[in-house]
Amino acid sequence: MIATDGLSLEQAPPLDLPLRLFLTAPLFAAAAGVLLLWQADVVLATRWSPAALAATHLLTVGFLGMVMVGASLQMLPVLVGAPVPAVRPVAGAVHMLLGIGATGLAAGLLGGGPWPLAIGAATAALGFGIAALGLLLALWRARRRGTGLRGFPLPMLALMVAVALGAMLTLALLGWLVLPRLLDWVNLHAAWGLFGWVGLLVLTVGVQVVPLFHVTPAYPVWVVRRLGPLLFLALLGLTLAALLPDSAGIPIAQLLGALLAAGFGAFAVLTLWLQAHGARARIDATLLHWWLAMAALLGAVGCWALGGSTELMGLLLLVGVGVGLPSGMLLKIVPFLCWFHLQSRQVALGRFDLRIPHMHRLLPERGARAQLALHAAALVFLLAGLLQPVFGRVGGALLALAALWLLALLVGSASRYRAAKRTLETTSAGTG
Ligand code: HEM
Repeated sequence: MIATDGLSLEQAPPLDLPLRLFLTAPLFAAAAGVLLLWQADVVLATRWSPAALAATHLLTVGFLGMVMVGASLQMLPVLVGAPVPAVRPVAGAVHMLLGIGATGLAAGLLGGGPWPLAIGAATAALGFGIAALGLLLALWRARRRGTGLRGFPLPMLALMVAVALGAMLTLALLGWLVLPRLLDWVNLHAAWGLFGWVGLLVLTVGVQVVPLFHVTPAYPVWVVRRLGPLLFLALLGLTLAALLPDSAGIPIAQLLGALLAAGFGAFAVLTLWLQAHGARARIDATLLHWWLAMAALLGAVGCWALGGSTELMGLLLLVGVGVGLPSGMLLKIVPFLCWFHLQSRQVALGRFDLRIPHMHRLLPERGARAQLALHAAALVFLLAGLLQPVFGRVGGALLALAALWLLALLVGSASRYRAAKRTLETTSAGTG
């Protein structure tokens, strides 16, 4: 069971808005899987191969971007009563812009020429900009009423820094901007994107939804209040250190890198501990996704500490955390929202004689577990692909299958929701 006390649907947007984003996102993860199936040898050999850069942005802009925006549009009003202004046009525009952005960036980085790259970068930047503005405005209004979601602005700000740096890198690649020490800028862009946006988002969302979804004790106050700002400051420090001469900059960057690794490592350990001490022993696919993602996060921290390859770290963070965790969350959020909307419709219509489908009928647990198994297998084969490319190809195929299976489960859930809603409304019209 999910604890639903204190949740409010009153200001939530129509369910079709986030669903549109949720049902498009897996297509980009599937595209990254197909790219890996096709070119695993080059993708896994070096982070600088065009195919690796393209796969990275299919996953970050296409998959993660759409899931984040869809979930925030729906969950912010439900969790803290913070509706996004003009939500329908905002959701429609962001959906289209991120879709074009991810496709254009991937095509451009893959060697498709300057125009796809320029158009992809501009549309992705605009899409993220509109989404962040809408979400920050909603949070600011909620904060004035004392209900703001603590910490949520930080990942949004980090995303904006990552996007601004990405735009600069694009200008440099197009030859429209001279950027000395390009590697430092790429590393900063990746750090703000992966640790700032993705990492802080996982932390901020985790402290809210882990206790809610898995009925665990709350996170300690220092994690809820201090860890996010501390890690954000570490990223700021890392950025400033890149501007210093190497003799001073490198030791500072190493120290701050250690702080980031320790902070995220502590979050992963604490999350696993809380989930092991939850009130409910029931182990579902979402919980298993969390365990796998936290293990991947700890693996990435270990890899950093031992000076392992950036390709290994990238794979653990991008696929292990960046694909796994949102997939697990979608397996829970989508049936939960469908059920929650149906329940509130039932109350509004006073139709207590009708039974609405529960969450596991909307999205069967067996299907969710099969999705988890496909994803876990994909991660294992992709990791093995770092040693032997043929495994990487299998991993790519499994990644695509896991994404398509996720899509099928979400489509199934949405169509069962629509059927139940129709039954509620038509029988009400008939009885009314
Ligand atoms: C408007 C959005 C974005 C644009 C225009 C953009 C653009 C770029 C460009 C031009 C590069 C460098 C390519 C090269 O040097 O050949 C790059 C690298 C990278 N980007 Fe982005 N990016 C965007 C969003 C993101 C986001 C949101 C993330 C992460 C969450 C991200 C993660 C990365 C990573 C990890 C790399 C380095 C890849 C590596 O180390 O192999 N990007 N990006």
